[in-house]
Amino acid sequence: MRTSTRVAGALVSVCALLAGAACGADDAGSTKDVEVFTWWADGGEKAGLDGLVATFGTDCAEYRFVNGAIAGGAGSNAKQVLASRLSQGDPPDTFQAHAGAELIDYINAGQIEDLSAEYQQWGLTNAFPKGLIDNLTVDGKIYSVPANIHRANVLWSNRSVLAAAGITSDATTLEGFFADLEKLKAKGVTPLALGKDWTQLMLLEAVLISDLGPEKFTGLWNGQTPWDSPEVGKAVDDYERLLTYTNKDTRDTFDWTDASKLLIDGKAGYQLMGDWEAADLDAKKFTGYGFSTFPGNGATFQWLADSFVLPKDASNAEGTKCWLKTVGGAAGQKAFNTKKGSIPARTDADSADYPTYQQAAIADWKTQTQVPSCAHGSACSQGWQGALGSAMGKFSSDGDKAALRAALVAAAKQFASK
Ligand code: BGC
Repeated sequence: MRTSTRVAGALVSVCALLAGAACGADDAGSTKDVEVFTWWADGGEKAGLDGLVATFGTDCAEYRFVNGAIAGGAGSNAKQVLASRLSQGDPPDTFQAHAGAELIDYINAGQIEDLSAEYQQWGLTNAFPKGLIDNLTVDGKIYSVPANIHRANVLWSNRSVLAAAGITSDATTLEGFFADLEKLKAKGVTPLALGKDWTQLMLLEAVLISDLGPEKFTGLWNGQTPWDSPEVGKAVDDYERLLTYTNKDTRDTFDWTDASKLLIDGKAGYQLMGDWEAADLDAKKFTGYGFSTFPGNGATFQWLADSFVLPKDASNAEGTKCWLKTVGGAAGQKAFNTKKGSIPARTDADSADYPTYQQAAIADWKTQTQVPSCAHGSACSQGWQGALGSAMGKFSSDGDKAALRAALVAAAKQFASK
């Protein structure tokens, strides 16, 4: 069946708004299609993607968004599928990749194209902060377009649960935090909701920031700070102590949204998670949450950035470029970030357009000390991240602290500066 141009136009917008679905099956796989590969499948993540897709539908009406999302927090499932598709020479038209070390993996493997000319053409070179551009650049070339800045070191809470335990303000030190976790434990709730491997790595990273401070924490990833120091030992001790306040029986099977459900249901007091949680709690209409910086992190902003790339041999390079232009444009960044919990990567956004949480994050991003995240690719390669995720999962089940410390040291030895 042929579709008239007008009807086809309507189909494009509807398909775009439905974020992919099975629309236009009669010409599926046509040169209009732009397959966008992410792990933003539900809740606040999908709400953010839908915002971007709506802008794409307007700005790139000649193309059609095809949703290649594979669910699983932090890309736990998507990245494996992506790796296999890339190795088989079957890339999606574009995929999400974290700025920093993770992106360098793809660049070194020759899997993504240089976008420096497009940066000039679309006026992006001055649209983003210099530090972020540096994290996207290798040998003078820029390989991806950042959609946002997320913050990883945020402590979320259920305000009613805290109030019932007599906690009126969030702790700013680890010792104060332990005292509050005791109060929650006495109330019979899970003091600190936790999920599997990568969320455990996030928690360890937050504790490392508290115990080492931002400079030494950053040094862990660039070879300046040793992993076998007494400070790292203290952080592992503190982490072990924190684990005693978590949902031991379920943490190794929980994704981050399972852990946040404990918070929403009033069964847990706190959860450490990136600020995609703000968007997800909003999307789930849970208004009783609070947020603060992880205790002891002070004025440290642990950042990561989702960016999109043009894979080598993408089947619709022109359509992908239109997607990338939307991702980097002011309208696309606003439509996406107001719903995603993140803040715009562009420096020309108006804070007043954003919800309360993001307004605070926009202010902090400008003034606080920035440190990267390994669990979300800005600090370490995918190999290093995988090794640490496995070590955390193992420690969660066997509690062997000496083995965990040895695994941290061994991973740094194997992966640092690769
Ligand atoms: C991504 C976020 C995403 C989060 C949870 C992070 O790695 O950067 O965009 O919301 O994982 O899935």
